[in-house]
Amino acid sequence: MVGGVKMEKLDYTVVKDPYPVLRQKSKEVPFPLSVEDEKIINFLHNYLVITSDDKVAEEMGVKPGVGLACNQLGIAKRMLAIYIEYHDEEGNVAQVTQFSFINPKIISKSVRPAYLKGGEGCLSVEGDHPGYVVRSSFVTVQGYDYLTKTTVQVKFRGYEAIVIQHELDHLDGILFYDRINKKDPWLDIEGAQVI
Ligand code: CO
Repeated sequence: MVGGVKMEKLDYTVVKDPYPVLRQKSKEVPFPLSVEDEKIINFLHNYLVITSDDKVAEEMGVKPGVGLACNQLGIAKRMLAIYIEYHDEEGNVAQVTQFSFINPKIISKSVRPAYLKGGEGCLSVEGDHPGYVVRSSFVTVQGYDYLTKTTVQVKFRGYEAIVIQHELDHLDGILFYDRINKKDPWLDIEGAQVI
């Protein structure tokens, strides 16, 4: 038992590129939520929480992540979870940004681009895809948050904006390396926010 959730056997497995569902546009989720859909949205969150402990992730033989989309379980539905921990000087969790979105959509985004200086990774992508993944420096997302059981509108900035855009891309069948400049992967983007 870890964090009150039994994880000896996972109910779902994270599929790997080039699994076809990763390239599908996911379908809207109807309300009220079905039992199966509630199970999935809970799993997405629990997976991130439990594997945020590096030791636990290693024992389970899985990679930790800060975001997970439903189609990464091989099911093309518009659901995703993000779980980002911030630590204090002693290494304890000081703050968490967490959402479990159902049918999220971007309602506004910055013109200014942003990218992570080290590039991005993905639980579903094992191949090496170096390069800047160019996104917007902020996005405002609207959707139903299963954690608070409310429809929310959230503005994400900086690293969190990158994470949520990566996950939203999954819902449309887009993988991070699609956004890397093929000819010049490390090309400087003028005016971009480098994170
Ligand atoms: Co991913």
